[in-house]
Amino acid sequence: MEDNTDGIDSNQNDDSQEDHSQEIGSSPAAGASVDAWKDALSSRSTAVPEKTIVPSAQAHIIKPNVTRRTFVKGTFWTGFGVTLLGFVGIFLDFFWPRGVEKFAGPYPAGNVNDFKPGAPPVRFKAAQTWIVNLDPADTSIVGGEGKAGYLALWQKCPHLGCAVPWRGGFNFNDADGWFRCPCHGSTYTKAGKIVFGPAPRSMDTFALTVDAQGNLTVHTDQVTPGSDDNASRAKTIDQLKEMT
Ligand code: FES
Repeated sequence: MEDNTDGIDSNQNDDSQEDHSQEIGSSPAAGASVDAWKDALSSRSTAVPEKTIVPSAQAHIIKPNVTRRTFVKGTFWTGFGVTLLGFVGIFLDFFWPRGVEKFAGPYPAGNVNDFKPGAPPVRFKAAQTWIVNLDPADTSIVGGEGKAGYLALWQKCPHLGCAVPWRGGFNFNDADGWFRCPCHGSTYTKAGKIVFGPAPRSMDTFALTVDAQGNLTVHTDQVTPGSDDNASRAKTIDQLKEMT
């Protein structure tokens, strides 16, 4: 029974295929278009033939302009540079001179009549100078060693450069009135001669001139290193005028 049924089905399929081919081939024009259609299908090819080499130019890899490594390095060095600039700025700000006036050169230092023999020294701040008028009659150990005349002393301590003040009330070796450095205690006579302390020499002196009216000028660009003969550098008015 099964065999018969199969035979019936196969016969029916054969019949239907036969009918269909007959339908397609029923018209010559239709047959030609089918052939053209098959030819077109067979000519199409989407597969890449074996052993086909793709040129490298076609396998182009797009690289980013800034890599992560470059970005991290750039950030580090930028931060480092900014920090360094900050330190340099702080350093310059700390050490940059402010309020410093021009120093070297001639400065007016009053009139000779402003300084009495043996009177306390007078300071001219802009010139960093003490003007003293030594009294030859002053026999004290802080006096002028018998010398007479005007002397211009640089206030800068020869030790480490502190400004040295005159201290009229300071008593040392049973005498009042000394130049006394506040930094390390170097002590000088009225003529700037060192008597105590770490300073390597006496106070330096400036050249001094006077005009016809008796006006003194201290020349801070003409410095003579201090020594024990400081008092001998004092000049009377007549000596100053002879030099002018
Ligand atoms: S700076 Fe004057 S004694 Fe040191």
